[in-house]
Amino acid sequence: MRSCATPSPELYARARRLPAEALDVWEHAIRDLLPPGPSIRRVLDLGCGTARFSALLREIYGVPVVGVDPSLRMLAQRGQSVDGLARFVAAHAEALPLDSASVDLVFLSMVYHHLRADDAVAEIARVLGAGGRVIVRNPTRETAGAFEYMRFFPEALALDLERMPARAALVAAFEARGLAGRSHRIVMHPFATSYAEYFTKVSARALSSLQAISDEPLARGLAAFERHCRRAADQAIYEQVEMFLFSR
Ligand SMILES: C[S@@+](CC[C@H](N)C(=O)[O-])C[C@H]1O[C@@H](n2cnc3c(N)ncnc32)[C@H](O)[C@@H]1O
Repeated sequence: MRSCATPSPELYARARRLPAEALDVWEHAIRDLLPPGPSIRRVLDLGCGTARFSALLREIYGVPVVGVDPSLRMLAQRGQSVDGLARFVAAHAEALPLDSASVDLVFLSMVYHHLRADDAVAEIARVLGAGGRVIVRNPTRETAGAFEYMRFFPEALALDLERMPARAALVAAFEARGLAGRSHRIVMHPFATSYAEYFTKVSARALSSLQAISDEPLARGLAAFERHCRRAADQAIYEQVEMFLFSR
């Protein structure tokens, strides 16, 4: 597995919670990319973490959802209400405790860059049934530098450019396992409603690239970023997040 510092599960759950507007954007984006239909009977939310997307997947597709994540601490931060909507299992993507051909859709949000891609994609291909689909929601090397805050943290940017997959390499990893790329799009994710909120969210250090850098460049970057946020006109901040759809 690729190593990188990650925020504590408690911090992740608090600071990366999806507000109603973001849930709305993602509901529309997912429905548009892959509308619900009778061929989707079971969904795997792989690397589900605190289950930010598990209930939404259940709502969109109306079928059983299983969330898999190796971190018991991340799983423990899921809201209790999601337990009635999905089942959760602690496991790694590279060794899924699921039967072959037992799911119709695998959803991966912000997890691909944590995986040993060859092994994980082989497992995804194994558990997917005929006609199965995969949605990957992740930044790539091409968009990692587009996050506005990143220009204040060059060390974090360098790390992201190294650990994020190149777009073509991500597509090639799935195609090598018989999963053809069907669609790719960039969704504007509402990250903050104002520059004041933007600063609060970034300075909470709930983003793994900011966890990974040392305190000195972090403090320097935060000071410059705070000046930038104070000067900026008040407006909402959107981040580019990529979505890929693959199918057999
Ligand atoms: C940034 S979080 C994303 C969580 C969730 N999908 C979301 O969008 O909120 C990354 C998650 O990947 C999980 N993860 C790390 N290595 C993994 C692996 N080998 N297999 C499955 N999940 C893994 C971590 O435990 C963590 O919960």
